[in-house]
Amino acid sequence: MDFYDVVQRRRDVRAEFTGEPVDDAVLHRVLSAAHHAPSVGMTQPWDFILVRDVGTRAAFREHVLAERAAFAATLSGERARTFDRIKVEGILESTLSVVVGYDPTRGSPAVLGRHAIADAGLYSSVLAIQNLWLAATAEGLGVGWVSFYREEHLRDLLGMPAHVRPVAWLCLGPVRRLQEVPDLERHGWRARVPLAEVLHEERYTAR
Ligand SMILES: Cc1cc2nc3c(=O)[nH]c(=O)nc-3n(C[C@H](O)[C@H](O)[C@H](O)COP(=O)(O)O)c2cc1C
Repeated sequence: MDFYDVVQRRRDVRAEFTGEPVDDAVLHRVLSAAHHAPSVGMTQPWDFILVRDVGTRAAFREHVLAERAAFAATLSGERARTFDRIKVEGILESTLSVVVGYDPTRGSPAVLGRHAIADAGLYSSVLAIQNLWLAATAEGLGVGWVSFYREEHLRDLLGMPAHVRPVAWLCLGPVRRLQEVPDLERHGWRARVPLAEVLHEERYTAR
């Protein structure tokens, strides 16, 4: 696959995981791609926690379902009916999970490039996630990002120290197929907006 194929093929996966094993060498390549992401001041502020234990994943899923219900309770009418049809996680169906953390103390206190924008550290962890996502796609694996959780809950569940911020719970593994159209678009939640709508020349144009 060339790079642009990978970008187009990448999907957020919930329902298509097979649960089959992931080869250690493949997993290492995917994690290594994540670890080669750019980072502010070369801080490499990410941590990757591999969660295979079914008990831990089931406990996290219970929490996710409660948060899903909390979000559903804020909806009404068509939004409520549409959301009802949407699956938001494949935690137990996937092979394993990769929880990505952000450690702002790494490389500090003199972080080159973060003095004015504290979020630059967080951006770096998110870039590692995108590398992981694209590498997994190139390897024929699926990734599903789950964000229906409270950070404190996840930190406690995995024994993460207070200064490390959980950034993502990623479900990972082989898939039956990758959908061509994002789930949220297929289910009528929201579609991709045209590039022209977000493109500005020289100065911000209010639309
Ligand atoms: C920060 C972030 C959080 C997300 N959280 C969830 C989630 O909790 N559950 C879910 O099903 N998808 C989640 N997604 C996936 C998005 O819904 C998905 O990327 C979007 O609908 C576009 O679909 P695509 O990734 O297949 O192109 C998340 C994506 C991002 C970037």
